[in-house]
Amino acid sequence: MPEAIKVRPPTPSGLYFLNKTMNKKDVKNIKEKAEKEIEKADTLEELDHIYKKYLAQNKGELTEVLRSLGDLPEEKRAELGKAANQAKDFIVEEIDRRKEELEKEKGFDVDIDVTAPGEEARVGHLHPLTKIKRNARSIFKQLGFSVIEGPEMETEWYNFDALNIPENHPARDMWDTFFINQPADEEQGRSLLRTHTSPMQVRHMEQNNPPLRIIVPGRCFRHEKPDASHDIQFDQIEGLMVDEDVSVAHFKAVMERFLDRFFKKDVESRIRPSYFPFTEPSFEVDVKVSDEWVETLGAGMVHPNVFSAAGYNPERWRGFAFGIGVDRLVMMKHQIDDIRLFYENDIRFLRQF
Ligand code: PHE
Repeated sequence: MPEAIKVRPPTPSGLYFLNKTMNKKDVKNIKEKAEKEIEKADTLEELDHIYKKYLAQNKGELTEVLRSLGDLPEEKRAELGKAANQAKDFIVEEIDRRKEELEKEKGFDVDIDVTAPGEEARVGHLHPLTKIKRNARSIFKQLGFSVIEGPEMETEWYNFDALNIPENHPARDMWDTFFINQPADEEQGRSLLRTHTSPMQVRHMEQNNPPLRIIVPGRCFRHEKPDASHDIQFDQIEGLMVDEDVSVAHFKAVMERFLDRFFKKDVESRIRPSYFPFTEPSFEVDVKVSDEWVETLGAGMVHPNVFSAAGYNPERWRGFAFGIGVDRLVMMKHQIDDIRLFYENDIRFLRQF
């Protein structure tokens, strides 16, 4: 079949540009030629060169075909356009494929797939004790209690005397104390690490008028031999509610509400008589955990002497106070039998919570 020769209008340089219109066979030839060259190519530069030869914007062999489409009659245009575009895709794919081959063979850098999902970063989380403390705080807040904090270093006055535990009172033996090596203050006595959060009862009442409802979470210290359920430092949550007609019934209601919400179920608890110098009557609350009663907190009705020490009129005001052992709560909630695990910071243990 004779090739049609067509004369284009003069180029800007004034030369006539001779061009023949292409047909499907020409495209096929280009495609096959390119395929062979690509297969033979041994370097990335060669491939780059082949790409330009066929597909460069300017004078690429296949680009020219695509460009000349406009000169063709309608019916031929669609047919040849399709073939040329397929050839173009084919060449691009072949070049990519060969590139990868070469990269593997020659150990060139393999393309990095930036769209691949990354490795998930490990994010830290709160310590289980912190979680429990925050949870307890938020439950008491819901029950209308404000959260107060106090000093870990206390004086004998607030830690003992103001709480109706005078010097030489045998009850002082209940709390083995770390004293601070400093001369004693005439009124406040010696400095010490607080053995419980109860000193904040008096400190808070001195500064605030009743009625009030507070909790005081905080760290306490006792000079004890550490074992599975005791450490020299531990966390308590003190509670105090004062009003004109507060009774044991109020205490019971608050406690039961708290325990149910904390353990997220109907918790069986019981109140047992006990003794603390700063409450009268005093009790302890046990919670039933897998058929066993576990002592969880000490509590009682605020002793009139404590009201007096804080400057409240004991004839007028009534209140209850309690002290929750946070570590006990944690052990119960997670069924852990050695409290020391929480302070050893073994990440394998902590990760579980
Ligand atoms: N402070 C007491 C203790 O540490 C607990 C307690 C607090 C008891 C408040 C009664 C009222 O053992």
